[in-house]
Amino acid sequence: MLFSFEVYSEQSAEEIVKARKALFSKNYSTAKKITSLTTDGEFDQAKQLILEMSENYKTLLNLFPDNTRDVFKTEALPAIWENKDDFNVLMNKASSDMIELSSLIETTDDMSIMLEKFMWGNCKSCHSKFRIPQ
Ligand code: HEC
Repeated sequence: MLFSFEVYSEQSAEEIVKARKALFSKNYSTAKKITSLTTDGEFDQAKQLILEMSENYKTLLNLFPDNTRDVFKTEALPAIWENKDDFNVLMNKASSDMIELSSLIETTDDMSIMLEKFMWGNCKSCHSKFRIPQ
């Protein structure tokens, strides 16, 4: 019984790691789309994707349970579980900054600065502390 339970929880940890990696990859391609859509002035489509990304960050908050530390090719650093509050603050900030970005894209004079500040900058500040350097 105990053995099969461990096997089961090991599997689900692997699924969770796969799910969060997939969601980060999706966010990356979405972020690139947002960058090109805003550059082209396609604000409605961009806003939809921006809000989608904001929601994905909220989903990601729940994809770092304790049993997914140091398993299955994760690039997540142990620092996440040692500083869970700091990590969650950054994830929540990444989410709420997207909402802020959605209200700014139509009025800003400098799109690239806004994208850097409210979108790309958050990737870097989290990765530099919580993801294995690439
Ligand atoms: C609050 C923290 C945080 C934020 C914000 C964040 N990331 Fe990450 N990202 C991570 C962590 C942690 C991993 C490692 C996940 C794993 O391997 O289990 C990761 C992994 C990734 C991966 C690799 C996925 C894979 O298939 O292995 C990509 C790509 C990525 N992030 C892109 C981005 C981009 C682009 C942004 C910003 C638009 C971003 N991330 C914002 C923490 C963050």
